[in-house]
This record gives sequence, C-alpha cells and structure tokens, in this order.
Amino acid sequence: MEEKLLQIKNTYLEKVAKAKNLKDLDEIFLALFGKNGEITLATKEFPNLPKDQLPKVAPLLAQIKKELETVIEARREGIREEGYRLLENEKLDLEGGKPLDKKGHLHVFTTFEKEVVELFEKLGFQRFDAPHIDTDEFNFGLLNIPENHPARDLWDTMYIDSEKFGIQPGKMLLRTHTSNSQVRIMRENKLPIRMMNIGRCFRYENLDARHEHTFEQFEIVYVDKNLSMANLQYLSEYFLRTIFGKDIKVRMRPKYYPFVEPGVGVDGECIFCEGKGCKICGFAGWLELAGAGMIHPTVLRNGGVDPEEYSGIAWGFGPSRILMLKYGIDDIRTFLSGDLSKLLKYEEEKS
Ligand code: PHE
Repeated sequence: MEEKLLQIKNTYLEKVAKAKNLKDLDEIFLALFGKNGEITLATKEFPNLPKDQLPKVAPLLAQIKKELETVIEARREGIREEGYRLLENEKLDLEGGKPLDKKGHLHVFTTFEKEVVELFEKLGFQRFDAPHIDTDEFNFGLLNIPENHPARDLWDTMYIDSEKFGIQPGKMLLRTHTSNSQVRIMRENKLPIRMMNIGRCFRYENLDARHEHTFEQFEIVYVDKNLSMANLQYLSEYFLRTIFGKDIKVRMRPKYYPFVEPGVGVDGECIFCEGKGCKICGFAGWLELAGAGMIHPTVLRNGGVDPEEYSGIAWGFGPSRILMLKYGIDDIRTFLSGDLSKLLKYEEEKS
C-alpha cells in the first residue's frame, strides 16, 4: 500500500508539473480527490488493511494528500500569473493590423491655393484676406451694383439674420465673390498696389455638376499708373502657362461686370482638343477661365484712388473650374464631398 501511495504521488506530481491550464488542473484534482479519485479510493481501502500497517499508511496518505493539494494550488497560482503576464504583453491593435498604404495629404484646393499664391508672389503680389461674412456695401454697393440693380441676380446669395447684431435686415450676407476685397484693398494700402485674395465664396445656387453653393475664388487687384488691357493679357497668359505647363492661347471677349470697364471674359484655348472643338468646350475650341477688366472709375474713387492718375486691373477665376479642367473632374461637387477615391486619384496624378 505504501508503495502504491508513493506511486500515485510521483505520477501526479509529474502531471501537475505538465499541466498547461486551469482545466488540466481541475481534471487532475478530480482524478485524485473526486468520488472515484485515486486518493479517495485508497482511503476506502483502509478497513481492509492489516492492523499494523494502518498507523504507518494513514499519516503517509495524509501527508501525500496535503502535498498534492499544495502543489496543485501553487500551480494554479502560477498559471493565473502567466495569464496576466500574457494579457499585459498583448497590445490592442486599433488599426486593424494592415498598414495603410496611403498617407493623408492636403486637399487638392489647398495644394492648388499654395501653387497659385506662390506663382503671383513671384510677380510681387501680396496676400490680402477679406471677410467671408460681409456687408451688402462691400459685396455690392461700392462695386457699382446698387440695390435693385439687375446684376444682383447673378450673385444672389444667402443673407444673415443681421438684426441680431444691430444691423439693418438684409444688409449682411455671405460674400458671393472675392471682389468684396477690391475697395478694402485700395483703402487700406498705399499706391501702387499689387494684392491677391483667395478664399471661399457662397451663392444661392441650383446645384448641379457645374454649380456649388460653396466654392473658391482667386482675385487680383493691381493698381498703378498707365496700366492697360495688355497687362491683363500678359497676366492671363503667365497664369495659364504656369498652371498647365505649356503655352496656351488666350483671348478676351467683352463681358459685363458692373465694377470693371471694359470688362472681359478670359478664354483659354481648350487644352483637350487644342482649339479643334470637343465635348468639353462645347465645340467652341475655347474655355472661359476668368473674369477681368479695368477697374471702373467709380470703384477706384470708392477706394480713394484718383482715376485720372491711376488705373487698375481686377482679374479673378474659380480654382474649381481650373482644377476640373486640369484633372478631368466631371462634377464640381466632388471637391467638398467625402469621395476619397476620386480626391486621392487627383493627388496621385499630380505626383
Ligand atoms: N467677381 C466676378 C465674379 O464672381 C469675377 C471678376 C473678378 C470679374 C474681377 C471681373 C474682375 O463673377
């Protein structure tokens, strides 16, 4: 019997040492101390033992029982600790494991804005920022567009509930063009002036592939002695050549804007068909890219500039229109959408 007990002890000490988890230990415990466990059964054999053996076997069994229980408990602790250590070393991967193959980048508007600003800085133009929320006066009135002038329909916008700010209702609005900078630029700077302004504009539009309620404009205000339409033509050619990377023929068509006289629409020869006529240019061979003109004498005067002595050029375009042409984007709404598949594509083509 003694031998049998020692054998049980050795077998199970080995099993405990090899146990990998708590479940293994539970099974070992049951195999020893369960209803039909080896230790339980051994105890049941005591009455059959010769009387002289009992004083020896009983303490041995008690000792083995205790030893095995202690070892099992110790191993249990060990396994728990190992588990905690594993948990501690485990990192929660919030990125889904797979590394992103694309890094983030600036929006195509921002990249283009930087490009255009640098381009005109080289010609000595400085940046000027005008407010997005502006008064009727700077957006219309001082630009020779008095109240009830039919030209206002072209620039219909969204009005601010201005009474809240103590301003007469209908007199505060979201600017419809960067031309709201013109009079401010003249009032706030010494002559001669070379300024540029780029930023958001807003209109009350019926939305479609070519019209957005929120869009970008870029505008130049150039005031000096003896400026003429020739300077304007040069600026347009310089701009298009630099942006599209090749010489592009430019033509000017008479166009009415109340704040310039004469006013022109600046067309560039269609870059897709090189003037032959295609779907994109409506078979005209030309694309309208900018609006411009010589600043109207009334507007010069509103800016405190004497039109007898100085002349001014105002020249503006919509970056989204140019970007649509440059990257073949067919819907202006793409720019402010979250459609990364398209926006990323333009960035790839660029690099
Ligand atoms: N502000 C005009 C528009 O929004 C564009 C323009 C700018 C025209 C400067 C002439 C001179 O349509």
